[in-house]
Amino acid sequence: MKILVTGGLGFIGSHTVVELQNRGFEVIVIDDLSNSSLDVLDGIEKITGQRPGFVKMDLRDKVKVHEFFKSNPAVEGVIHFAASKAVGESVKDPLLYYENNLATLVYILKELSRKQKSYFIFSSSCTVYGQADQLPITEGAAVKPAESPYGNTKQIGEEIIVDACKVYENLQAIALRYFNPIGAHESAEIGELPLGVPQNLVPFITQTAVGLRDELSVFGNDYPTRDGTCVRDYIHVVDLAKAHVIALQRLMDGKNSENFEIFNLGTGKGSSVLEVIKSFEKVSGKELNYKIVDRRPGDVVAAYADTEKANDVLGWRAELDLDDALASAWKWEQKVRQVKD
Ligand code: UD1
Repeated sequence: MKILVTGGLGFIGSHTVVELQNRGFEVIVIDDLSNSSLDVLDGIEKITGQRPGFVKMDLRDKVKVHEFFKSNPAVEGVIHFAASKAVGESVKDPLLYYENNLATLVYILKELSRKQKSYFIFSSSCTVYGQADQLPITEGAAVKPAESPYGNTKQIGEEIIVDACKVYENLQAIALRYFNPIGAHESAEIGELPLGVPQNLVPFITQTAVGLRDELSVFGNDYPTRDGTCVRDYIHVVDLAKAHVIALQRLMDGKNSENFEIFNLGTGKGSSVLEVIKSFEKVSGKELNYKIVDRRPGDVVAAYADTEKANDVLGWRAELDLDDALASAWKWEQKVRQVKD
């Protein structure tokens, strides 16, 4: 059976392709290269000794999606990463986000619903919980009104899958709610490559340390947390990638208890922004230039996962810690810079 990985040249997608190939799956990637590059295929090949199949395609083209599934009947499993993910951009261009993140989802599910059996893994986010009433956050926590069109696409995406699974019994699906994915493959052959100025903390830290940015702005130190800065659950992308393979295998083995399941993917440990900076300085041996600025609108105070369901039901747990993740992100950033210089 072939596995389709949409967005397979992106940050989490590329690491998942590696883990799938390491476990003997045959992978075909669809990516539109809007936020990724063909070089990632070389990186995947260097790590695994295997080049995945690749099709450059914009999944908003319904006819092309249909043709792809028609000419690839062996594709019964799909891990769907392809989506836009910049919160600020989604506020400015909401319809682009609804089209990119939801129209494409519908087209893929339509194709899968026609098959005798099909397995679908969806990239969701802890953003669906907003500021949760209780920490750590369990899968049963309330889904809060979305703060942005991006967040809304994750909520609506899950609802679309729930409704589809109610009528298409052949369709088995899992939504994985990621906390904060960071880090890179230990080989530094693949990693995170944000376009332009990074919006997320860790790429901003590594770009500052490497000299691309003057200083990191820490968004607020007056939050009700242990040091006043926001708390998040930073998860190593390789651990996250492995969870996708386990989730897919769970569906293929028929071990799922319902045909739509949800799992949180986090470490269970919250780290503040200042703790992340400290950990980065420790593993890199570099002092980071940073200043405290105003809060960023829309940030939640604290979010970290209750990992019990992922541990006990999915049979997965994060093996790498914050230091490991930051060391790998730093190794990757340095390598990328050497290539460019
Ligand atoms: C952000 C998005 C979230 C999305 C996730 C995807 C917002 C408000 N949230 O999550 O919806 O699912 O990315 O990756 O955009 N920070 C700084 N300085 C920086 C950057 C970040 O202090 O330059 C702080 C933030 O205030 C936050 C923490 O670092 O406390 C993590 O920020 P970030 O990496 O952007 O992730 P989230 O905000 O958790």
